Amino acid sequence: MSSRPAPWSAFTTPQFWDDPHISQRMLAAHLDPEGPAASRPHAFIDRSVDWLIPALGLSSGSRLLDLGCGPGLYANRIASRGIEVVGVDASRRSISHARSGAESGSFPARFVVGDYLSASLGDGYDAVILIFEDYCALSPRQRSVLLNRVGAALSPGGRFLFDVTAAPRFETFSEEPRPPRNSWTGSGRRSPMWVPAPLGATPLNGSSWSGTRSGRRTVPDGSGTGRIV
Ligand SMILES: C[S@@+](CC[C@H](N)C(=O)[O-])C[C@H]1O[C@@H](n2cnc3c(N)ncnc32)[C@H](O)[C@@H]1O
Repeated sequence: MSSRPAPWSAFTTPQFWDDPHISQRMLAAHLDPEGPAASRPHAFIDRSVDWLIPALGLSSGSRLLDLGCGPGLYANRIASRGIEVVGVDASRRSISHARSGAESGSFPARFVVGDYLSASLGDGYDAVILIFEDYCALSPRQRSVLLNRVGAALSPGGRFLFDVTAAPRFETFSEEPRPPRNSWTGSGRRSPMWVPAPLGATPLNGSSWSGTRSGRRTVPDGSGTGRIV
């Protein structure tokens, strides 16, 4: 815990997100309408969905793949417009919530538990999305694997949308082996989980430093970046 592993020397992301305790806290964070710890604020998601459907050229009957869909905050909003959505996520708890949402709204959405770097994704999609800067957390090799898988899943002319951390954001972050103030709130409105802070992040017991995804801070006004390739 006191030494930092080499970058990308371990990949425990799927297990991390599916851990019973962590997934419970994450789901609560996703469902906090003002976020922005695990998902962006829900009002921002509403505006994002209004933007991304035409940006991706989607309409009723189109097919969309949502990688790392979480509890379906985007997927079910998009499916409510008649777009057929397949969501993939490593968290069984989030997928369960996403399925409940689709069932209660009778949306054309299907949700699968799996690692998007290895699970079967299907093909013939008009668009693929990966939202909340998850691309940034992948190693160069994993990015290559992911891009090849996305390419295989898309129909010719299909589009891949993902967001990344804007480089200037890193200028405000540093990582120090000491707990910053206010980095763990434990409860309350801001977040029940990791919160990026100017000097890093600290776990609940405050006993040792552990890494977080630097820059994983939401910029609700969209001044981060979004791109379509
Ligand atoms: C920060 S959350 C974003 C969720 C959703 N896209 C949103 O913005 O509301 C990242 C999600 O990606 C999932 N995830 C991370 N790595 C994954 C992987 N390799 N395969 C499948 N899901 C993964 C996590 O379980 C989590 O639900």
